Amino acid sequence: MKIYDYLIIGSGVAGLNAARLIPKDKKVLLICKKSPWECNTFWAQGGIATAVDDNDIPLHIQDTLTAGVNHNIKSAVEILSKNSLSAIHDLINAGLKFDLNSKGQLAFTKEAAHSRSRILHADGDATGRMIHMFLIEQFKHEMLTEAVVSDLLIEDGVCYGAQFFINEKEEKTVYAHNTIIASGGVGSLYRYHTNSTTIAGEVQGICIEKGIELKDMEMIQFHPTVVKGTHFARKPLLSEALRGEGAHIVDEDGKRFVFDYHKDGELAPRDVVSRAIFDYAKKNKKRVFLSFENFEKEFFKKRFPNIYSNLKDLGFELPFERVPISPAFHYTMGGIPTNTNGVVDGMKNLYAVGEAACTGIHGANRLASNSLLEGVVFSKLAVEHSLKNCFKISHENYKNKIKSYVRNKQIDKDIKNSLRRLMWNNAAIVRKTANLQYALNEVENFLQQDVGRLLRLRLLTAQAILKAAINRKESLGAHFLDKDA
Ligand code: SIN
Repeated sequence: MKIYDYLIIGSGVAGLNAARLIPKDKKVLLICKKSPWECNTFWAQGGIATAVDDNDIPLHIQDTLTAGVNHNIKSAVEILSKNSLSAIHDLINAGLKFDLNSKGQLAFTKEAAHSRSRILHADGDATGRMIHMFLIEQFKHEMLTEAVVSDLLIEDGVCYGAQFFINEKEEKTVYAHNTIIASGGVGSLYRYHTNSTTIAGEVQGICIEKGIELKDMEMIQFHPTVVKGTHFARKPLLSEALRGEGAHIVDEDGKRFVFDYHKDGELAPRDVVSRAIFDYAKKNKKRVFLSFENFEKEFFKKRFPNIYSNLKDLGFELPFERVPISPAFHYTMGGIPTNTNGVVDGMKNLYAVGEAACTGIHGANRLASNSLLEGVVFSKLAVEHSLKNCFKISHENYKNKIKSYVRNKQIDKDIKNSLRRLMWNNAAIVRKTANLQYALNEVENFLQQDVGRLLRLRLLTAQAILKAAINRKESLGAHFLDKDA
């Protein structure tokens, strides 16, 4: 029986960076649901936050806590920020290239709720893609694509590996001394989102089945600015860095209304800006736009080459034409509870890193560009921890029967679409308790039906989001209750 040293689930920044740091003599298998490119990292635009120097660490910590409405675990935020410089320099030393300014120094940009410019970027506005390509080039282990996890092999607080579907039907079991979950958040549970369509919270659903209680699941982040009205399942993102560099949110008469909601206007925390857009559009029955009027065309093309060309492809005349926007699901602040070494609560050799995990760093609203940083920092800490602790499983000790699952059933497609609408309509930017309860009842009805394995897991995760939202009786950060309802 082949036992891997590491099984890594997911091919985004957290999974690939973990793979990069595991010594080459270890047996490592990384699995991803489709191709390795289908992950959220690939689509991340604006950048990766970091403390600029030691003096900036307290400020970065404070900005993260303020954006997170102090719902964060402060000690975890401190670890994130204190490790940011070494984690970034480690990537640079390994060959990753960030954009430089005219003096040949690292170019830092500003994004909302940061008190200074501290966001590094690559190829202007394709930071995630550049990091991803770099990590793929560095990848030296075994990779299995089209592999969808259907179960974790867990017994008495020990993880023995995972079971997954390959291609459409075949099932496979892999034993591993260490399992690292890096499978991202829950984007495809919502109708409008910016995520890869492969990200749907199934591994979180498995954790629920195993008795691992997910944390902060009501804390869902909606990005304020995606292009409205496109037919794509994944909505085109308009990076926050655009606003950091001077783009404005306006109504159809050109009025900048976000200052009516927060003194920092477009650069207020993300939850505030998303709610402002939602509220203003609804109350005033007006459309909302991103305006680039004060960008020079050449600056736009050079600083945001990919967004510029995507918008041109969609037919916009830039920089003069305003682009219609709306908020969409972007990021899962909550997740699988871990300590700051990525160890899943109550488990020995199971790790969760990146968006799948909840270390407590994001609190009630993630600070812009802390997500790629999270992936880099906590994957490193998890690998270091696992190498020092060297836990060895013996597959003979795993006594549970390996189950056989049916991946998809005929009724799944309709329920999946209903679920996305249900979550968008009832558990999005502004919530009402009655609507959350309605959605929970519907999800529980779906769970009674004879659905396929993957849909069941999605439903369990949706149920956890709704229950957490119902249980939080007061608004906090991204969880906003409309009490007038
Ligand atoms: C963006 O570029 O606006 C996204 C950055 C992030 O999600 O932190």
